[in-house]
Amino acid sequence: MSTKKRILSAIQPTGDIHFGNYFGAVQNWVRLQEEYICTYGVVDYHAMTMPYEPKKLRQNTWDLIINLVAIGIKPENLFIQSLVPEHTELAWILSCFCSHGELSRMTQFKDKSQQSSTKSDDAFISAGLFGYPVLQAADILIYRADYVPVGKDQEQHLELTRNIAQRFNSRVGKEYFVAPETLFTETPKIMSLADPKKKMSKSLGPKHYVSVFEREADLRNKVKKAQMDSGEHRGTEVMLEGVTNMFAILKACEKTEISAQLRAAYLDGSLSYVDLKNAVTEALLEKVNEFSERKKELMKDKKGLKNQIKASSFEIRKRAQETIKEVKELTGIMNVRF
Ligand code: AMP
Ligand code: TRP
Repeated sequence: MSTKKRILSAIQPTGDIHFGNYFGAVQNWVRLQEEYICTYGVVDYHAMTMPYEPKKLRQNTWDLIINLVAIGIKPENLFIQSLVPEHTELAWILSCFCSHGELSRMTQFKDKSQQSSTKSDDAFISAGLFGYPVLQAADILIYRADYVPVGKDQEQHLELTRNIAQRFNSRVGKEYFVAPETLFTETPKIMSLADPKKKMSKSLGPKHYVSVFEREADLRNKVKKAQMDSGEHRGTEVMLEGVTNMFAILKACEKTEISAQLRAAYLDGSLSYVDLKNAVTEALLEKVNEFSERKKELMKDKKGLKNQIKASSFEIRKRAQETIKEVKELTGIMNVRF
């Protein structure tokens, strides 16, 4: 039997992947594939928790699959959540091992429900949005994952997942579920180029993020317009957000040599921000070109890739089915196969 540890993570099909997602999470997913048994989900049931367009959801799901494969995720490690219906089945069972109070303390719920209520007069906050962390716990526990690589914003959901696992184990009298650990990346938050006080994010609008498939002209323009500062701190140790973010991007792109040269120039007061921006543009373009090239290849046989993902979801589902069968035994739920 393999002694390799298991990794599980997931991402919602809500549009583009930007460099914040990439350096904060997805790049790490690609690397972890070398060392661990990795399973990555495109979680379409999660994407229903906020107002969404049914006609677009399926398309967004396939788009995200292609994008993830182009970035370096192996198709055999990928599944689509709704092709493994055991996730929602387990989520119901786990919701009976999670308290209303615990869920109401989740900050993502508070943020998102506030977002909905400020956007429109007849704010609709779904019970799905409230219960979403239980579905996330099911995504993780169903594969009995040891580690979950995510950004810092998911820490609270992971803590809840561990509480649910422990409560389940103690109520059924068996150490059944593994309490998963969080794996954070080294990359700090990548900030918006247009407003470096805010994190790079899709929800702020296209000015605020750079897609990993950005068109060259748009990428050049976004970096050119990036908000810096008036340069009054050049020649000192003080560095404001805009400049810090540029250096964070160079570091994430592993451009250590040029980054060291530019940093030295900052410290002695001779740095031109145009040079710094040019270095960032070239570093990001290198990645964009590599990913876009692979995406172009994949687009030639979309049907083939779809079939591969259906097959991998089918394989991955077998482990989920095993778990559900055992959970039903442990909880007294009927376990009959028709
Ligand atoms: P989201 O698109 O917000 O659902 O995030 C998907 C993943 O990317 C999560 O693991 C986040 O923690 C991570 N992420 C999102 N935005 C950033 C950012 N600006 N910097 C670093 N990581 C991020
Ligand atoms: N909640 C995560 C986010 O907003 C996405 C997610 C759903 C997830 N299920 C998961 C992440 C399981 C890790 C593991 O980014």
